[in-house]
Amino acid sequence: MTRTIELKIEDVAFGGKGVARDAGKAVFIPFTIDGERVSARIVREKKQFAEAELVEVFEPSPERARPECPYFGRCGGCSYQHISYSHQLELKARQVEQAMRRIAKMPEPPMRPIVPSPLPYGYRNRITVHAQDDVVGFYRRDVHELMDIAQCPIAMPEANAALAQLRATRPRDGHYSLRAHSGPRVFAQTNDAIADAIADFIATVLAGNNGLLIDAFCGAGFFSKRLAPQFERVIGIDWDRFAIDAARKDARPNETYIAGEVTVELAKASRSGDLQIADQQNRRSGDRRSLDEWTLIVDPPATGLSTEMRHAILDSPPGNMIYVSCNPPTLARDLAELQARFEIVSVTPFDMFPQTAEIEAVAHLKCF
Ligand SMILES: C[S@@+](CC[C@H](N)C(=O)[O-])C[C@H]1O[C@@H](n2cnc3c(N)ncnc32)[C@H](O)[C@@H]1O
Repeated sequence: MTRTIELKIEDVAFGGKGVARDAGKAVFIPFTIDGERVSARIVREKKQFAEAELVEVFEPSPERARPECPYFGRCGGCSYQHISYSHQLELKARQVEQAMRRIAKMPEPPMRPIVPSPLPYGYRNRITVHAQDDVVGFYRRDVHELMDIAQCPIAMPEANAALAQLRATRPRDGHYSLRAHSGPRVFAQTNDAIADAIADFIATVLAGNNGLLIDAFCGAGFFSKRLAPQFERVIGIDWDRFAIDAARKDARPNETYIAGEVTVELAKASRSGDLQIADQQNRRSGDRRSLDEWTLIVDPPATGLSTEMRHAILDSPPGNMIYVSCNPPTLARDLAELQARFEIVSVTPFDMFPQTAEIEAVAHLKCF
């Protein structure tokens, strides 16, 4: 039997749901904002927590905003269009900080201010839509059912133009990746302005470094190519052969791209002496400049670093490391372990995905 209860929203958790308490038990309610009083219908009850659907907002938050998308609330893509953009930023910054405190066990996480997206809407340079039985669009939030979508307000106009064109052809059933830019069909960062902001941030942080740079999970070399002029040598590793082919195309003489699994290739680089040479130089002189000589960037998928990868990094630690993450909980889990050899110098959230619950964050680590 379902029950409807009145709740005061205390916070918005990572993932986008408001959190309230009912007789001490956490209740998660989508489309609510911290500070609001709402009524909600319990739809799933577990021992530790319950999930509810919003029925009515009695006391709306001053941060409540009008969603720009007619599909918002039904479409599975966005969770935050009902929240003002400035408050979305506050929530995301807080969620990253909480992950650092709770999962990475950092009492005072070295947080830097969140970097906002210049475009809160119209920023996505690619969307993947699905076609089935003449319906073209995205899956619904609550059930595995396709919704017909004419336009997506968080996508760039060029991506929406590609959607209109696709719809006009009445496409065959399947998945279609629509891109605002031409180029190789390999991983590319979703929000151009924020991707540039992350690359600029990394270049600033690594300004004094110039020896060997390893860009693990390099894709087509988005970070390594920008940094190659300042380093003696750059090695990019990715298991996507097409991304590596694209990276090799315009590579400078000091850039090497390897198609392979990162942990395996990192171990090979270590055996081949690349990392030991840098490490021995570090040990011999002991000064900070040469300690910075081998540098590592990791930008793994949402699952974060594998146990083997974390051990490989701890066994042959770089002087400086940049960890680009699209999933704060796995970032925090990995930082918890890496703190054994590294000082966490800073953690900076970047709003790569406005209106959605997703968060990008970049950590700078220094070996001690
Ligand atoms: C988040 S993307 C980052 C791409 C790149 N840094 C960029 O900015 O374009 C993650 C990349 O890691 C690659 N990848 C995932 N797991 C991998 C693994 N175990 N070994 C090698 N590459 C992997 C994927 O092919 C993908 O290109």
